[in-house]
Amino acid sequence: MENNIKLSEVVGSGKDGRILKEDIFNYLEKQTGAILPPSPKAEITPPPPKPKDMTIPIPVSKPPVFTGKDKTEPIKGFQKAMVKTMSAALKIPHFGYCDEVDLTELVKLREELKPIAFARGIKLSFMPFFLKAVSLGLLQFPILNASVDENCQNITYKASHNIGIAMDTEQGLIVPNVKNVQICSIFDIATELNRLQKLGSVGQLSTTDLTGGTFTLSNIGSIGGTYTKPVILPPEVATGALGSIKAIPRFNQKGEVYKAQIVNVSWSADHRVIDGATMSRFSNLWKSYLENPAFMLLDLK
Ligand code: COA
Repeated sequence: MENNIKLSEVVGSGKDGRILKEDIFNYLEKQTGAILPPSPKAEITPPPPKPKDMTIPIPVSKPPVFTGKDKTEPIKGFQKAMVKTMSAALKIPHFGYCDEVDLTELVKLREELKPIAFARGIKLSFMPFFLKAVSLGLLQFPILNASVDENCQNITYKASHNIGIAMDTEQGLIVPNVKNVQICSIFDIATELNRLQKLGSVGQLSTTDLTGGTFTLSNIGSIGGTYTKPVILPPEVATGALGSIKAIPRFNQKGEVYKAQIVNVSWSADHRVIDGATMSRFSNLWKSYLENPAFMLLDLK
């Protein structure tokens, strides 16, 4: 309006052809030949990323060898166990449910607590919080911490929350469990997780560590990914999996954009005994504990 510009004559360089301040300056420059000061936007536009700023895929440790011949080998060890369990899992009608969880507060809290745990000799990841929130949820929804017999005639509600953790090791996928999470503090869970991880990495977990799980959580997000479709570990009836925590713009209650730390959770439940509403209510509760970690203090035993 100041310069009597007809906007219909200006070519917009913004999103969907939107006209930006610099488009007006460029237009004026062309019309009048006047050299206008660079727009503030031009000043703050970051330079294109240099190759070193980009995420470079980590090369596989062993160079691939092309022999030109097919290779057949027996399925053994952990892989053989996986064939058996996953074939049994196939008989379960899986119900899937996903949601996104805002971990902004939890990310801050862990940053505060990490050095304290470290000073006590323990690595504090997000898993102990995830596990404790699962256990607090299971107290309200015990049907998710249950098992059914072979023909699904009886359901047994488990007294202990022995929460299994899918663990990626050099020997393959293993699922040790943290026993009695319902009576553990977050620090206790972290301590136990550290022990399981240490033993798991050298293939020294005991049968006790690897059996008796009642619910499983898989944090595939420490490797990558956003959504998963986790498979129930029989005789359990429910499981959950987490994607990577990512900084993503979201709106706060005032409608302002902020940098949120978002994780996606994918639950699977045995639809013969668990309905969608139960899974949803459990997930909402779990989510509320993680989005407002202080809530956990109220319910911790
Ligand atoms: N998103 C982003 N960062 C994550 C993350 C996530 N979902 N989960 C963990 N991290 C971070 C941790 O906070 C930690 O960061 P820090 O060094 O700042 O503390 C780092 O990644 C390494 O964590 P990790 O040692 O993997 O510990 P953990 O307690 O988070 O996870 C296991 C432990 C055992 C679950 C994990 O090591 C693992 O094996 N995950 C793979 C599970 C799998 O294979 N599932 C598929 C089953 S089919």
